[in-house]
Amino acid sequence: MFVCENLSVNKKGHLTIGGVDAIDIANEYGTPLYVMDIYVVRKNCERLASIVNKYYGNNALLCFASKSFCCKKIYNIMQQENMGVDTVSIGEMYTAIKAGFPSKKVYFHGNSKTEDELEYALENKIGRVVVDNITELNSLNYIAKKKGVVADILLRLKPGVDAHVHKYVTTGSVNSKFGFDIANGEAMEAVKKAMELENVNLLGIHCHIGSQIFEVEPFLLAAEIMMDFIKDVKIKTQNELLELNLGGGFGVRYLQTDKSFDIDCCIKSVCELVKSKASDYGLSLPFLIFEPGRYIVAQAGVTLYTVGCRKEIDKDIKYVSVNGGMTDNPRYILYGSLYEATLANKASEEKLEKVSIAGKCCESGDLLGEGVLLQRAEKGDILAMFATGAYNYSMSSNYNRNLIPAVLFIENGNCSLAVKRQTLEDLIRNDV
Ligand code: LLP
Repeated sequence: MFVCENLSVNKKGHLTIGGVDAIDIANEYGTPLYVMDIYVVRKNCERLASIVNKYYGNNALLCFASKSFCCKKIYNIMQQENMGVDTVSIGEMYTAIKAGFPSKKVYFHGNSKTEDELEYALENKIGRVVVDNITELNSLNYIAKKKGVVADILLRLKPGVDAHVHKYVTTGSVNSKFGFDIANGEAMEAVKKAMELENVNLLGIHCHIGSQIFEVEPFLLAAEIMMDFIKDVKIKTQNELLELNLGGGFGVRYLQTDKSFDIDCCIKSVCELVKSKASDYGLSLPFLIFEPGRYIVAQAGVTLYTVGCRKEIDKDIKYVSVNGGMTDNPRYILYGSLYEATLANKASEEKLEKVSIAGKCCESGDLLGEGVLLQRAEKGDILAMFATGAYNYSMSSNYNRNLIPAVLFIENGNCSLAVKRQTLEDLIRNDV
């Protein structure tokens, strides 16, 4: 009935999220509202951890890619789940640290890190800086020297693998802006350079080939290329790289008609490949890292909106307008991403019409979806959009000076705010 688990319909015909009536939630906390079911978040963490453990033992770490959903409370949950985290800006590192997350388990990524960010990472003893380019490598070494420290690093590499995903979220091909190219020798040069520098300590390599990937093959190919690279490094430098971070990107279902991604099979195949390559090449088993973002949080999220009006242009074009839009979920207009929705107060009624869900921004393209199957919507209905836990809140904006919604966590039937709703005062706080 629903693409996400832990959703149901109660006797009143209302949608329930984690056992709580969505209409009660909307009445108490207002809309638009991001609701996160923490049961689902934890279950996904635990599922992945047990799969990795089954096929690779405990010489591994799962890092939550916090760009998919970032606030202090999620870092607390990741800490409880024994996860590391992937951060990509001083803002994400700061949030993690302010949440009390252990800095040694923070990985710092980015293709254009600023010197301030590198300084911040070193001052806060961030676990690994994942170095993207030679300029950054030199800056980091320089900053570390000034501070009298040695930075533990990985190098971000481009394995040259096409993950067959939307071009905005593909990252592993040679034309990508991220990382050092393996094929043209740039990556090996960077390894040698890093080994010469005194204030960086090269521990391993990283790649991330894209997001929302449904095929196992690209992951395997990338893992193979990375293991071959570790072998080449050993041959050319007599040093063995002991950390292998294979990034995230595991595909998630947004629609009931979407195929599901066999994560068990993917991780099993990757772990077996890494083990067999290590044994073929006489290498130690590397410390293995995965960095899932979407897989952990996407299906935990439901966004609640209030319907403003409906407009029937003709029999085929019907708009249902809501009190949010591209400012809280830009994914339809950016990537054409599709979502399922229901009217939370009419959840037991049949869905009989296909509508375009219009946002409130002054922008014709501001839609949350087209051809979305829905019950007949009227002003005041509560529209629930599913699987919005990843890259929604974290990509929200104040365009048109709309307020960023609150984030509500639900766990064991209890609701607690993780992020307060922005206020009008917040909007002008930095205006002078
Ligand atoms: N590691 C690195 C280095 C990454 O760049 C990313 C995502 C991840 C891990 C996590 O990927 P995931 O498991 O979440 O697929 N805004 C886009 C997604 C951009 C992904 C960027 N990097 C979207 O809404 O689809």
